[in-house]
Amino acid sequence: MTATILVTGGTGTLGRLVVPLLREAGNEVRVLSRSAREPRDGVRYFAVDLLKGEGIEPAVAGVDIVLHLAGGAKGDDVATANLVRAASAAGVRHLVYISVIGADRMPIGYFRAKRGAELAIADSGIPWTTLRAAQFHDFALNAVRAMAKMPFIPSPGGLRFQPVDARDVAERLVTLALAAPAGLVPDITGPKVYGMADLARSYLRAIGKRRPTLPIRVPGKIGKAYRAGDNLSLDATTGTRTWEAFLTDHLTTPHPAPTH
Ligand SMILES: NC(=O)c1ccc[n+]([C@@H]2O[C@H](COP(=O)([O-])OP(=O)(O)OC[C@H]3O[C@@H](n4cnc5c(N)ncnc54)[C@H](OP(=O)(O)O)[C@@H]3O)[C@@H](O)[C@H]2O)c1
Repeated sequence: MTATILVTGGTGTLGRLVVPLLREAGNEVRVLSRSAREPRDGVRYFAVDLLKGEGIEPAVAGVDIVLHLAGGAKGDDVATANLVRAASAAGVRHLVYISVIGADRMPIGYFRAKRGAELAIADSGIPWTTLRAAQFHDFALNAVRAMAKMPFIPSPGGLRFQPVDARDVAERLVTLALAAPAGLVPDITGPKVYGMADLARSYLRAIGKRRPTLPIRVPGKIGKAYRAGDNLSLDATTGTRTWEAFLTDHLTTPHPAPTH
């Protein structure tokens, strides 16, 4: 059965991968983000700032399923509460949310806001599914690109990451969205665990550069939480695409810059 589906953040790194998969499955798709766009490839666009919370109603009217992927560095709890109010009034029957592994443990504002958003969804009265993901390869690539501009690569002892391919997350989300609401489902990570310096070294190797490594210690509560592995999910469902494969693909094929 096909459905009318709203993808918030459908113009972002993850959302751009989710939208065509939903269309290919025969669904009517709408996208909500802050930027106005003309309809394209059968998709209607709604320009709404979820942080302000005004004008959400037309985007959710008549919608069966919402995939809530819009997010930023700050305020995901506030933006989600605004979306939930409108989705609830519109009678949405399934609300699917992308959160982050460690939302309930990491002492960092971004993670706390993601937890606030998870709770707003769980308390919404709308049947829901929440998937927590590790950092996407694209995010790790931005981080190591910034590091490669420095004269040395900082190597924070004991910090580990499980970067996941956004295509694997997109496929999982689409399967979840088209199935019955499932609550908090098993986390998704990439297939391998890396130290920060491992990620940077494989990037440098791929672009033919070398940098010395400088061991550093991340201080305070944040360092302690990372060293305890509170950002990890070691028995999660893993995606199939590795960091190394992503790098090869990304550095050898021209990729268009994000349009949002
Ligand atoms: N990146 C990661 O490593 C990672 C890991 C785990 C979970 N997540 C979560 O996955 C989601 C998608 O991440 P991403 O990397 O695809 O993000 P992204 O590339 O930065 O895209 C964010 C999307 O949200 C929209 N957006 C941002 N603020 C908005 C607002 N106030 N109102 C309406 N739309 C807004 C953006 O469009 P406009 O700018 O046009 O508004 C864009 O479409 C986020 O919720 C993020 O927290 C990301």
